[in-house]
Amino acid sequence: MRVGIDKIGLFTPNKYVDMVDLAHARNEDPNKYLIGIGQSEMSVADQTQDAVSMGINATMKYIDRIDKDKIGLLVFGTESGIDQSKSASLFVKTALKLKPEVRTFEVKEACFGLTAALMIARDFVRVHPDKTAMVIGSDIARYGIGTAGEVTQGAGSVSMLIKADPAILALNDGHSAYSEDINDFWRPNDSKLAMVDGKYSTQVYLDFFSKTFADYKKQKKLETNDFDAIIYHLPFTKMGLKANRLAVADQDEATTEKLQNSFDASKQLSRRVGNIYTASLYMSLLSLLENGNLPAGALVGLFSYGSGAMGELYSGNLVEGYEKEVNAAGDEKMLKRRQKVSVPEYEEIFNTALDDPEDNEELTSDDEKGTWYFAGTKGNIRQYKVK
Ligand code: CAA
Repeated sequence: MRVGIDKIGLFTPNKYVDMVDLAHARNEDPNKYLIGIGQSEMSVADQTQDAVSMGINATMKYIDRIDKDKIGLLVFGTESGIDQSKSASLFVKTALKLKPEVRTFEVKEACFGLTAALMIARDFVRVHPDKTAMVIGSDIARYGIGTAGEVTQGAGSVSMLIKADPAILALNDGHSAYSEDINDFWRPNDSKLAMVDGKYSTQVYLDFFSKTFADYKKQKKLETNDFDAIIYHLPFTKMGLKANRLAVADQDEATTEKLQNSFDASKQLSRRVGNIYTASLYMSLLSLLENGNLPAGALVGLFSYGSGAMGELYSGNLVEGYEKEVNAAGDEKMLKRRQKVSVPEYEEIFNTALDDPEDNEELTSDDEKGTWYFAGTKGNIRQYKVK
């Protein structure tokens, strides 16, 4: 029985900063950001968007096309959690009107969270093939104004439905995992800003990719040229480019070109949205589905990385007709709806969003009708509303 990704939806907030503007404001050459880091825009979340509201909005992209009663599991991966105890998934479950029999919880391991959720969901569906599982990754990447990591911020969510006989990507058995207790990126409980040793993190990411890719190929008796695409967690697109260069280092021209083209297709959304932590790899997948022109059956390798650190490589095959399950025009419209904000405006939005509003202060959203948003707290209980 094949189990895998049947539906996928992306959401990103309605404001962005242009990297050329940010470079000018920080006295950097724009090409450092555009080429050196590989980012052209980054989405900015104001106070009304958090991990929960973005997760609901990502799921709304496909909720009308699924049988909600079949969902037996809902797992939410995030490192931008909104409560130290209660799972973000419970707020989502209420908004989506899922039935009470759903098993639901939140998982965390930096940017690995959504992959962890996906693997739990895959195994759940294998045991309960008549049920489906929903997995959501949702994060706001905040490194701080004027920091080296500022250019690698972003905000967004990807939601996926996992099911038997999936319509998009059938996951293959096996995986290669590698973990080590290190300090390349972390966020203490009392800080909304991440702490990061970016250069060290890059080294570890590339090391974990090399290890898991080599091990996966050995395990599955595959060669690099068997892959039609390899996609990556993209904290910034240059990171994936570096990993892809390692992947093709000893390959012939045709394989190098094939994997470079598929990587280019997979980075398009990331370049404009920025780092969305747990959901970043799956935004690469969506970008590949929309821009890659790959045939049904194509073998896609997926490299997931979460700082701290955990790496995993696995693969899937594209399913016949997968193109019908994505909406490139709709995603482009979503990106185009974003309002470009100046750097001073972004700084103000950023600083305001570091704190929640006063209890009982009602927030309103300036996003499109139908968008879910965080409306403030009542008695310190978070309220979510739809515009
Ligand atoms: N034109 C073209 N390229 C230029 C340039 C120019 N004018 N000026 C500089 N560059 C290039 C540099 O040569 C360099 O390229 P290489 O990396 O290929 O050498 C690149 O631009 C960046 O330059 P610097 O290294 O000087 O940049 P920096 O010191 O400002 O730091 C960074 C860059 C390390 C990526 C920093 O932005 C950072 O720390 N970002 C955060 C990274 C991060 O999140 N790491 C964790 C990854 S995993 C994750 O997402 C976390 C998780 O698990 C939740």
